[in-house]
Amino acid sequence: MVEIRYLGHSAFQISGQGGSLIIDPFLTDNPLVDVKAEEVHPDLILLSHAHQDHLGDAIKISKREDAPILSTFEVAGYCESKGASAIPAHMGGTVEFEFCRVKLFPAWHSSSVDERDLGNPCSFVVSIDDRALYHSGDTALFGDMNLIGEQYQLDVAMLPIGGHFTMDMEDAVRAEKFLRADVVIPMHYGTFDVIEADPEEFCRRLKEETGKGCRVLGIGEAYSL
Ligand code: NI
Ligand code: MN
Repeated sequence: MVEIRYLGHSAFQISGQGGSLIIDPFLTDNPLVDVKAEEVHPDLILLSHAHQDHLGDAIKISKREDAPILSTFEVAGYCESKGASAIPAHMGGTVEFEFCRVKLFPAWHSSSVDERDLGNPCSFVVSIDDRALYHSGDTALFGDMNLIGEQYQLDVAMLPIGGHFTMDMEDAVRAEKFLRADVVIPMHYGTFDVIEADPEEFCRRLKEETGKGCRVLGIGEAYSL
């Protein structure tokens, strides 16, 4: 069984039989989240890019848990310079771990911290216990999502719906037409005023247009598959 626990914004903890990973752990500075950075104990941290609402507590958690941060070359280097352990990789690359396999894919966005440009952001496919999960990071809709849908029988796609900095719910529905995941979990909405969106409305539209499943997770709530 794989458990996907939503930690608000774009943060998820994904647990399989052999271990767990956390993606984009923006916890301490997210006013909507009462899960503390001290309460999560991942074996691995994935960072889609360096913006603060994704980098979040990653470096602190990495140091405390001795959990490496897998990210793009530049973001991994930044994290290492701050004392975390990191695994630099990049789009197209697959990294194997004992409990999962992670492949990096593109995302259309930017990646910067402290006014430093840290290259291109990425998205991830996590293969864990015979499941394939896509986390798009922050991105606009792009047609090459179709290639990801061709390569994997995705069980779950985690997609932003908040617009303004990323795709909105209309484009997330179009993204799902490329990805063809069994279930979509909406993310990156409601944290700030400019990304307000109604996830239930997204699910209605998604089901109408694709017939696929949709799962809105409250913060701290888990979906098991
Ligand atoms: Ni961003
Ligand atoms: Mn963001």
